[in-house]
Amino acid sequence: MSLSTWSFPTKIVFGAGALSTLADHVKAIGGTRALIVCDAGVVKVGIAEKVKAVLDAGGVAAAIFDKVDPNPVEKNVFDGVEAYKAHRADVIVSVGGGSPLDAGKLIALKTTHERPLVDYDDATGGDKYIGANVPPMITIPTTAGTGSEVGRSGVVTLAANGRKTVIFSPYFLAKVAILDPELTVSMPARITAATGFDALTHCLEAYCSVGDHPMADGIALLGLELCAKNLSTAVSNPKDLEARGAMMKAAMMGAVAFQKGLGACHSLAHPLSSEKGMHHGLANALCLPAVVEFNEAVIHEKLERVRMILDPSAKTAADAVRGLRKKLGLPDGLRAEGITEADIPKLADKAIQDACHTSNPKKTSKDDLAKLYAASL
Ligand SMILES: NC(=O)c1ccc[n+]([C@@H]2O[C@H](COP(=O)([O-])OP(=O)(O)OC[C@H]3O[C@@H](n4cnc5c(N)ncnc54)[C@H](O)[C@@H]3O)[C@@H](O)[C@H]2O)c1
Ligand SMILES: [Fe+2]
Repeated sequence: MSLSTWSFPTKIVFGAGALSTLADHVKAIGGTRALIVCDAGVVKVGIAEKVKAVLDAGGVAAAIFDKVDPNPVEKNVFDGVEAYKAHRADVIVSVGGGSPLDAGKLIALKTTHERPLVDYDDATGGDKYIGANVPPMITIPTTAGTGSEVGRSGVVTLAANGRKTVIFSPYFLAKVAILDPELTVSMPARITAATGFDALTHCLEAYCSVGDHPMADGIALLGLELCAKNLSTAVSNPKDLEARGAMMKAAMMGAVAFQKGLGACHSLAHPLSSEKGMHHGLANALCLPAVVEFNEAVIHEKLERVRMILDPSAKTAADAVRGLRKKLGLPDGLRAEGITEADIPKLADKAIQDACHTSNPKKTSKDDLAKLYAASL
């Protein structure tokens, strides 16, 4: 029997209005000056100002840094470090979807770590260079998808390798994650659907991934059930706080569960974002059915369980995923997003270099990845 290590340590404050507790949490971890890391979209819907107002009222001096791209790049991190220093900040409050939450972790890293970002690439064992001396972080998600608020990874596209690169460290764990469903009601339907599909894919791929992790499996299955019961309501009735809250829980649970591992769908999705600028959750939604079909022969029983959770009336788990995708109004293939056969060789070249497929239940070659892209067109 092999050895496994299990840990789920972040303090999470959940509920409508949870944002009001923010200043107390910042002060409790010794923060006096906060850099709010967010993006233009979070500013536009008024959330950044709302967060600043809560901090200012609670006696924490706050400045807003909003120069984070939808798929973060290195420059966002360097600009954020400048903003952190200019404000003389001592805590980072990351507010937004996965993009600002990931950027916040890497900004924290670069305030104290001198090496170029590429040296910290998890794929080359870069975590060994990351020490405990990163400033404290508080995370406030405004999408319900990536679960980055409780994760230990920051994802950034690096100039050195052109890849969406995962930088991983236990020191990236937020001191507190504040999950306030009221902050997600402004998400448009398509972003709700796409980010929700990321949460669903995390739960599904984590449950199906190789390895023995019963806690992750339990969390993944309940997260999947929350997605099945609530994602379409969150899309069709955006102000439904119960459904919004349930999707926030599912997103957080998906990220806890994927400590176990992900699968080939995430390896297909990453190049679609770094090469083609596609939203991460949408990329997962478009590739997941083909990956589920690819895995069916080796994990039929698990996928039966997935089918029963998503839609017992569907013939297969892949059909259940397709059915939900359609119900949410998402496209039914990559072609609808401008991807063609001609793009596949380069995408497959990048996908095979991505580590996620190494925990896919069925061993995945570059040729398999190319075929999966073709099947997802
Ligand atoms: N760290 C991890 O473990 C992990 C896991 C999965 C994905 N990711 C990364 O996360 C990123 C994707 O994150 P995402 O899917 O949350 O999208 P995102 O953060 O890129 O946000 C998508 C869009 O939604 C807008 N938005 C966010 N909240 C909103 C709100 N409440 N109302 C209106 N608009 C809002 C943003 O401004 C942006 O334009 C990718 O870079 C992906 O690689 C990280
Ligand atoms: Fe993801």
